[in-house]
Amino acid sequence: MSGSKKHHSHHRHTLGDALHFASRFISRPGSIGSVWPSSRQLGEAMIENVPLKTGDVVVEYGPGTGPFTSVLREQMPPGVEYLGIERDPELHRNLVRRFPGMRFHLGSAEETHEILDHHRLGKARLVLSGLPFANMPADLQGRILNSTREAMHHDGVFRTFTYLLSAMSPRTKHFKRLVGEHFHHHHGGKTVMKNFPPAKVMSYSKPTNK
Ligand SMILES: C[S@@+](CC[C@H](N)C(=O)[O-])C[C@H]1O[C@@H](n2cnc3c(N)ncnc32)[C@H](O)[C@@H]1O
Repeated sequence: MSGSKKHHSHHRHTLGDALHFASRFISRPGSIGSVWPSSRQLGEAMIENVPLKTGDVVVEYGPGTGPFTSVLREQMPPGVEYLGIERDPELHRNLVRRFPGMRFHLGSAEETHEILDHHRLGKARLVLSGLPFANMPADLQGRILNSTREAMHHDGVFRTFTYLLSAMSPRTKHFKRLVGEHFHHHHGGKTVMKNFPPAKVMSYSKPTNK
């Protein structure tokens, strides 16, 4: 997506966002997976060059306090169907309040396929993930990737990111291997230094034979 910025108020992290996020992190570190919300720059890099059109379905995993959601709200063309899937009830409640008119499902990305059916939505043209894959057990990673592949349109795009600092960790390496078994990897994802910690966007498409 590019060029079609609408002028909504720009979302910046307020101190309240950051503290809210940090408090959820402290109470559930394994499932939040990061101590600081992503930057707007990372959000923009996550949706760069994905041409969306009316009727397309966009799914976001783990919107958290909404940094990617707010970039999407500004840049999605009219008529694109958005669905955010957030597992934390308190974060979910805040998303509903903060983004009126956008749809959020309280549940897990493991059930994306069923969740899309439940909302009578078709297959996803873009799946944007803010999930802490590198902190997840391997079986959960596998369930989410299976469900993602099933829920994706044949020419859909799956975008996720890894923190540069953890690129060499065994869990990140395992995730990269696993995601490579489910999807085709597109090289050349953007590295975003204006994020804490700096992150690299990874982009995948659905293999034709799966
Ligand atoms: C690292 S935070 C990222 C939040 C936001 N996308 C960002 O980049 O700032 C991960 C988010 O994913 C949510 N989450 C974790 N596991 C999930 C799952 N299986 N399904 C849906 N959401 C999940 C957490 O509650 C949290 O809001």
